Amino acid sequence: MPATQQATQTHDLPRVLGASHATAIVVGTIIGSGIFLVPHEMMGAVGNSGLVYLAWIVGGLLSLFGAMTYAELGAMMPYAGGEYVYIRNAYGDMPAFLYMWTWFAVAKPASIASVTSGLARTLAIFGVFAWLEQPVFHGSTILYWSQLFAIAATWLITGLNYLGMKKAGDFQLIFTWLKGVLIVVIAVFCFTSHTGSLANFRTSFTGAQGGFGGFMVAMIAVLWAYDGWNDLTMVAGEVKRPERSLPLALIAGLFIVGALYMATNAAIQYILPAAQIASSPRPAVAAMAVVSGHAGAILVSAAMGLSIFVTLNGTIMSGARVPFAAARDRLFFHGIAHIHPRFQSPSTSLVVQALLSTLLLLVVGRFQQLFELAIFAEWLFYMITATTIFVYRKRLPDAPRPYRVWGYPVLPALFVVASAVLLYFSYAENLKNSLVGTAIILAGIPLFLGIRRRYAAEAR
Ligand code: ARG
Repeated sequence: MPATQQATQTHDLPRVLGASHATAIVVGTIIGSGIFLVPHEMMGAVGNSGLVYLAWIVGGLLSLFGAMTYAELGAMMPYAGGEYVYIRNAYGDMPAFLYMWTWFAVAKPASIASVTSGLARTLAIFGVFAWLEQPVFHGSTILYWSQLFAIAATWLITGLNYLGMKKAGDFQLIFTWLKGVLIVVIAVFCFTSHTGSLANFRTSFTGAQGGFGGFMVAMIAVLWAYDGWNDLTMVAGEVKRPERSLPLALIAGLFIVGALYMATNAAIQYILPAAQIASSPRPAVAAMAVVSGHAGAILVSAAMGLSIFVTLNGTIMSGARVPFAAARDRLFFHGIAHIHPRFQSPSTSLVVQALLSTLLLLVVGRFQQLFELAIFAEWLFYMITATTIFVYRKRLPDAPRPYRVWGYPVLPALFVVASAVLLYFSYAENLKNSLVGTAIILAGIPLFLGIRRRYAAEAR
């Protein structure tokens, strides 16, 4: 069997997604709540709009280089699991298992938990949703309505995905359009407002952290806003004409997101001076409140709520395909490879993922830590995955490559080096979290050996 082919399976998930669905998965998953919130953290870290833009551009390019590298890998191996498949074919079972394990046990449940709790927090701004911030049991802080709401949102979107990729893909497409339009409307409102001024771009915030450390803090915020650019590769097995659609969706998607992000950020800076951005925790809401009062604030909050729902759909959809792919290869419990006979979805994998996320939402109060944990684990594997492009070019120079990354080897190499710098910083700045992350990853080794033994015994 050629190294770029998946083990033959009798029954596959159907290919139902077109190029526009694929692009919506990229754009709709990336744009979540980050763009509406992180200008605050960024201004607090670097203090002036020039450096804020530099961070948006560097972070955007870095994500684009990652997406371009993944486009070559994805078009070569368009199967369920994405990164898992590239790592397995290049480096073998154990690294692929550890990737899947990290994704399954930490990164995805933590992303789902932090995205859904962000949704509850956004809606709580509205008077009618104020109950979300109340405890469920009077006088006890064990459980809040927001947690139950987050759990309900997780199951709702899991249910949609359970009913099949066609429905989930259409949802993604329609609502990504809607959120794109809302973002453009918000930007137009800001730019045509009399309250804005170009002079605001020259203001600065004197209390900023500053220095290289400050710039790195802004970079991490930007990378969170751009996170999700890799999710499409996990559902590549369900994309029609993947050799064309995957590279197109990944690259066009990143350009669309970059343009919308730059426009939103500029709109906020046009309305608010630097010091005010640094002091408003929701700068997009604050800017629109200045432009058109309460109605403006409501419009942005509604856009955020919608946006988060779409991100959640992309995150749940892609997350379930990774353990599914590993289970098909007998690297994980075989039941997880189940395909629903009627809906043709990886139903067991979806349900298990929702259970883990529910658990996390019930027991963990502090999402910040989990989210930082997720980012650390994710970038470690982005880096490892990107290095496989060099392995394939060397080992299989003549394999069909429908898309060849532009600027090889410089561009993927830049991505790998930048990820390494980022990881170094996250280790240095947040040793405890990074060590916890590493410990969880390593805990996968005994599990891998156990599963391997069990299935080897079965095969005999
Ligand atoms: N970038 C999104 C935001 O700004 C979060 C994406 C969640 N991560 C993921 N891999 N799906 O809110």
